[in-house]
Amino acid sequence: MEITVSDKPLTAVTDDVILLPVYESQSPAEGLLAEMNHLTNGAVGQAFESGEMTGKPHRWVSLYLKGARATQRVLLYGAGQEEKLSPLQQQRWAGSALRTLASRSAQSVAVVMNGSCAGVTSARAIVEGALLGLVESNVYATEKEARAEITRLTLIGEVSAEAHEGVRVGTLMAEATNFARTLAHEPGNLMTPTKLAEEAAAMAMREGLSCQVLNEDEMKRIGMGALLAVSRGSAEPATLTVLDYCPSTESNHQEVIALIGKGITFDSGGISLKPADRMEEMKYDMGGGAAVIGAMQAIARLRPQVRVLGLIPASENLPSGRAVKPGDVVRSLSGKTIEVVNTDAEGRLVLADAITYAIRLGATRIVDAATLTGACVIALGEVRAGLMCNHQGLADELVAAGDFSGDRVWQLPLDREYGQLIRSEIADMKNIGNRTAGAITGAMFIKNFVGDIPWAHLDIAGTAWLDKEKPYLAKGATGFGVRLLAEFVSRCGG
Ligand code: BES
Ligand code: ZN
Ligand code: ZN
Repeated sequence: MEITVSDKPLTAVTDDVILLPVYESQSPAEGLLAEMNHLTNGAVGQAFESGEMTGKPHRWVSLYLKGARATQRVLLYGAGQEEKLSPLQQQRWAGSALRTLASRSAQSVAVVMNGSCAGVTSARAIVEGALLGLVESNVYATEKEARAEITRLTLIGEVSAEAHEGVRVGTLMAEATNFARTLAHEPGNLMTPTKLAEEAAAMAMREGLSCQVLNEDEMKRIGMGALLAVSRGSAEPATLTVLDYCPSTESNHQEVIALIGKGITFDSGGISLKPADRMEEMKYDMGGGAAVIGAMQAIARLRPQVRVLGLIPASENLPSGRAVKPGDVVRSLSGKTIEVVNTDAEGRLVLADAITYAIRLGATRIVDAATLTGACVIALGEVRAGLMCNHQGLADELVAAGDFSGDRVWQLPLDREYGQLIRSEIADMKNIGNRTAGAITGAMFIKNFVGDIPWAHLDIAGTAWLDKEKPYLAKGATGFGVRLLAEFVSRCGG
């Protein structure tokens, strides 16, 4: 997609479609709408008078320009209440409008940055929303529907350094998110732990990051008993990928941020087998790993002044004659022992060893992202991810980065008492509690491995996947976490 900023007048625009935001309470007799009314021979005014156009979100009207070439149109697209237009709303406005246009044979679109959409953060939000909205899920059908693709986007507004920077950041954020979506969407037979590591390594090569992949022999040698317990049942070997971003210039930051993503490429539950209904969705149980890979790509392009490690512990979770069994006790890399009461609580096991490894590599702050619990889906649905944290300052930073980026989170508590739920009689801890506070007991388990290091856990089980498409986003993997993590890191080293 070629994206440019231009301040040419509406009459000089030659793109297939001129896309104009329309706000509730906006009058067609004023400003750009009046100009557009003139260019469409009064059709804009008619659209308002007839009540077809109201400015409400997702209301749209397509009109033809007088005297223009046959294909040139104007799309008036409702943007809702002007004063409530946050960056998230702008992303969604652009995503919905572009998705509406994608199926209507348009190749180039000029977006008029009018009213609240004219600010400097708008360029970023509009580009981000548009690029996220236009991507459809991976399809393997051999007969695909042919459709014209939108290949050019022009932002019509003030041409400034800020606008160009907005386009640059919006583009790299959306590209990284779409990359993560593609990874998370892949079926388990194609996206194995080895393939996930290869994808991370290829990205590192493209972006100039260092990358190291630990294989099972190396994991055995150093004693990653928790991660290896999960992969025992699978014929596919586990991998632990470590991506490393170092700031180019000598920075004052002593900080090493570790981003750790759960990379279960298929979660059947293991011996504690899941029901068949919707088990196929468990191919996206590597959504946290995909988010970390995507975030590292964005970070490589944002170049913040802080060192960042990205770790992706990857494995399948399958039952077999060799698989870990309920009741087994395993020794993690940290030395702590774990009673595996339920083999379906596998994410916390792979995260535990990755966290210990990150600490050995020098991590001073840790954020993990994981599709960890069904309980978090019940608690927060698909709107916000769960945030659990041992350090309130870090939690506040993540909430702010989430609200700004669109990947919103909501904090859940981690009082000591919750720890009692995962107390084991025969080991240092067990990997599940009772039926209560499931998202929190998952986090309490992980907390046992971080020591005093500031750490936050993002439970993205509900937000990593959309069951039904939204006007602004295709159904399937959402890439949740990429923009949150990249925004968070860029604020740390900005
Ligand atoms: N990958 C699942 C969690 C999940 C559920 C992700 C639904 C996305 C949608 C995780 O490994 C799991 O199975 N968790 C168990 C934990 C339980 C056994 C304590 C769960 O949530 O049921
Ligand atoms: Zn599971
Ligand atoms: Zn899982």
